[in-house]
Amino acid sequence: MPQPTESTDPPVPASAAAPTAAPVVHIVGARPNFIKCAPVMRAMAAAGIPQRLVHTGQHYDVRMSDVFVRDLDLPQPDSSLGVGSGSHAGQTAALLTALEGALVSADPAARPALVMVYGDVNSTLAAALVCSKTGIPMAHVEAGLRSFDMTMPEEVNRRVTDILSDLLFVTSPEALDNLAREGVDLERCHFVGNPMIDTLLAHLARFDPDPMRERLGLAGPYAVATLHRPANVDTVQAAGRLVAALHELSARLPIVLPLHPRGRATLTAAGLLDVPELQVVEPLGYVEFLSLVRGSSVVVTDSGGIQEETTILGIPCLTLRPNTERPITISHGTNRLVEPDRLGAAVDAALRGELARPGDGPPLWDGRAGERIAALVADWLAARA
Ligand code: UD1
Ligand code: UDP
Repeated sequence: MPQPTESTDPPVPASAAAPTAAPVVHIVGARPNFIKCAPVMRAMAAAGIPQRLVHTGQHYDVRMSDVFVRDLDLPQPDSSLGVGSGSHAGQTAALLTALEGALVSADPAARPALVMVYGDVNSTLAAALVCSKTGIPMAHVEAGLRSFDMTMPEEVNRRVTDILSDLLFVTSPEALDNLAREGVDLERCHFVGNPMIDTLLAHLARFDPDPMRERLGLAGPYAVATLHRPANVDTVQAAGRLVAALHELSARLPIVLPLHPRGRATLTAAGLLDVPELQVVEPLGYVEFLSLVRGSSVVVTDSGGIQEETTILGIPCLTLRPNTERPITISHGTNRLVEPDRLGAAVDAALRGELARPGDGPPLWDGRAGERIAALVADWLAARA
């Protein structure tokens, strides 16, 4: 694991230029977007690139949104679109309309030179569609990841966004292979490393498990769990399998589960809250959550980003999914896919040290992805000026 260092990151300054003068516009909306955007904005600020932050409002609870702006020293968004929740059609339609209003202006001089989109959420897809149909160049950060599972809404979002992108920033070598196989022009693709890991490394010194242990009454080893994938939490039946597995595990190891709002109703209906050794808490802030993870013996999750963070922290991760778009976390050795009814055995193996993997992280997960992206964007802007 990298050595803790004091975070030396200054707050990201808000763009000094008038919003309409900013050539680069970042689109964020959901929890993981803030974490990926922060180092890119910081590096662009250092490179003197005027920029603007647009928050779609896909996530809006303080604990799903504002807490990340605060924890990561992001500037307050220049525009908050307040789109909120809805069905896929309803939310995507509202995102398209609101983003078109925010990005498209009758005055060509006021148009962004480049829009940056992050990850695989509906806000990402909607921004990509708006840019593509209105002729605004667009860059995708975290391009090329594939679960090859088209039942995941994120897989649809990733594929469509990549097809439409002018610049594709890739976190992992196999993502380049995926893009090449799909016929994406590799001249547009750049392997830059992982901005989510930039954020992790920049804030590592702040991740102290002790206050979280004290706050949650954790005297010994413990597990951390998160669940929010539709396939796991959208029906009481699926939620019931997971709750049964977590209850069984909690008989051996206390579990803390910061509960994403998506699964609140179904997981509760399936009996999630019935066992005291399984402690359910509100979604945690970024520093609180990674402090908790850093002190844990094992993480059980269906998150994408947490598979990556545990890879660098060297914490065994058991992913409650049939596939992952982040296979490098498995080949690296810290992550394993697991069926709910095999969770107990998988945790035993993890606690025996089978998923321990000291040493370097995956290539270019070195905290400098944001800088590489900023340098490439600066060159791209200069070439088009
Ligand atoms: C979204 C992303 C998912 C990502 C996740 C990160 C899509 C299709 N999915 O899933 O890829 O992993 O964000 O956390 O974009 N809700 C609240 N408060 C909030 C936000 C949501 O209560 O601040 C509840 C609402 O009931 C909402 C539900 O959560 O309907 C789902 O929210 P939504 O943004 O549609 O998708 P996520 O499941 O959060
Ligand atoms: N996270 C957090 N608080 C929590 C749960 C997760 O700060 O209670 C962070 C986590 O460290 C990671 C990001 O949220 O950086 C992942 O978001 P999520 O799992 O919601 O989305 P995904 O990565 O699956 O798209």
